[in-house]
Amino acid sequence: MAGLIPQDFIDDLIARADIVEVIGRRLQLKKAGREFKACCPFHDEKTPSFTVSPGKGFYHCFGCGAHGTAIGFLMEYDHMSFVEAIENLASLMGVDVPRDESDRPARRYDELFSLMTSVEQHWQGCLRDNTVAVEYLQRRGIDGATAKRFGIGYAPDSWSDVLDKFGKTPQAAERLLATGLVIRKDNGKHYDRFRDRIMFPIRNTRGRTIGFGGRALGDGEPKYLNSPETVLFHKGRELYGLYEARQALRQIERLVVVEGYMDVVALARHGIDFSIATLGTATTADHLNVLFRLTENVIFSFDGDRAGKAAAWRALENALPQVREGRQIRFVFLPDGHDPDSFVNEHGADAFMTALDNGVALSDFLIGELASQVDMTTVDGKARLAELAKPMIHKIPQGVYRELLIDSLADKVGLTGARLEKMLGQAAAASGESGARRSPADRRRRGMIGAGRPSVVRRAITLLLNHPAAADKLDIEKLAGLNRPGVDLLRDLIETVQQEPNITMAGLLERWRHNDAGRHLGKLAANEVPHEEDFDAAAELEACVEQLALAGRRERIDFLIEKQKLSSLSDDEKSELRQLH
Ligand code: UTP
Ligand code: MN
Repeated sequence: MAGLIPQDFIDDLIARADIVEVIGRRLQLKKAGREFKACCPFHDEKTPSFTVSPGKGFYHCFGCGAHGTAIGFLMEYDHMSFVEAIENLASLMGVDVPRDESDRPARRYDELFSLMTSVEQHWQGCLRDNTVAVEYLQRRGIDGATAKRFGIGYAPDSWSDVLDKFGKTPQAAERLLATGLVIRKDNGKHYDRFRDRIMFPIRNTRGRTIGFGGRALGDGEPKYLNSPETVLFHKGRELYGLYEARQALRQIERLVVVEGYMDVVALARHGIDFSIATLGTATTADHLNVLFRLTENVIFSFDGDRAGKAAAWRALENALPQVREGRQIRFVFLPDGHDPDSFVNEHGADAFMTALDNGVALSDFLIGELASQVDMTTVDGKARLAELAKPMIHKIPQGVYRELLIDSLADKVGLTGARLEKMLGQAAAASGESGARRSPADRRRRGMIGAGRPSVVRRAITLLLNHPAAADKLDIEKLAGLNRPGVDLLRDLIETVQQEPNITMAGLLERWRHNDAGRHLGKLAANEVPHEEDFDAAAELEACVEQLALAGRRERIDFLIEKQKLSSLSDDEKSELRQLH
């Protein structure tokens, strides 16, 4: 198995990659000053607002906000994984991708993964030996082959079954704790987390078990118990059944998102291999990113009850930023009292497929739900509908899809599309929203895109990304001890630039690709910084740092004065305060 790709290799690759060549092979680019332009491939448009900047190694669309590096473009446009994109760039430049065998996370966690596998197999054996558990599954319509495919098992009714078998040494018990299979009591002793439950292994995209969901056999509470967050398992990102679906299907034409483990398994039992479930959470943007990388066609299937409607609405809200031409998002509501599991067992696979085909398009669901909240027979009601739709529509990237949605909404409220659009636009400007309707030039004049005045930290980070060399001589000590959001990130960025003076914006973005703190860097990078001839980025950046340092000093003075009032200051603090003044 491949190891981790060394960071300096990625830095170097990104610094040398010609983003214009990479994108130019796929789109028709036209030179425009220092940059290149094209019609955006990520939304539908007639005048080009997709801009590629060779200097920064960065692309950005003013229309829909898409942005990223050469690696990011390959991932978005060609649906490559991160590693595939690296390999593709490397082969373009005729170099091999080195692997750092000593420091790959897979190896670091090898012991934990193999522990998960051992416990999974143990539980599968326990299932074979327990007639009550087997009968439970049979009663729910699950046959042996399906149980095997999903690795379903049974955790015996014991406080120490797993602990006794897999946690004999203190180190082994630590590993059980790290994977969430046992729980530690206050007195330091451990006990099994899963007892007397049907066990569903949750697998990552490589098929390794990273967590479990356990269903109580009877009315035990909670009905489902899940592994906690661990180093292996992050709920908001994982989808139950995705590995199994990819195994079963050569080509993924569509994916159905359902609510429960049992729904996925029951559908698979009936030959419907393309369903996946979120793990007791709402469908997140992360989930949707994963799904749309695999297919253009996503169907949400929820229960017909109120809770199902609410879950569907949350999914819709998270899906809006992902809506674009070519993508289909539909919602299927099963008859009251049914979930996919009970429905397919009662009515069969064909009926479920028909239900899928009859799903409601996202736009219809959106308008229908909002319309049901107002009195559509009155003018007031219709105005209110437009009002309610406004924030939703603004989440949709600009493009044909958004226009069509505005048109059908206009139809509904009896206005022309243009009228309604104007109304929506005005409201957006008035509420200081994303500014999506401002012209690029206008935005450039403003210095930054975004609501309200950008914070100094944001401005500093934007400047640094756009002009890394400007951070060359900054005194990082000035930011020491300063405590506000983003300062740590700013400090890390400055340090990186000072260590790697030739790093580009793209290089910085790639360094932070897998880092939580860096998730927003791409957005800041896309903000335009004025580039008149006399613009001095270094001076500007230094001014930001000074401003932050000053604010930090003021906070410290206030703190010391407060303290002085309440108690006394130490000698060190007294001289610090004198110095600060
Ligand atoms: P449901 O309550 O809809 O259960 O929970 P279900 O899928 O229909 O299960 P059966 O048919 O009664 O066996 C849907 C999902 O929500 C999460 C689980 O992921 C479950 O599959 N859940 C539910 C929990 O995590 N804990 C719970 O106590 C209940
Ligand atoms: Mn159910």
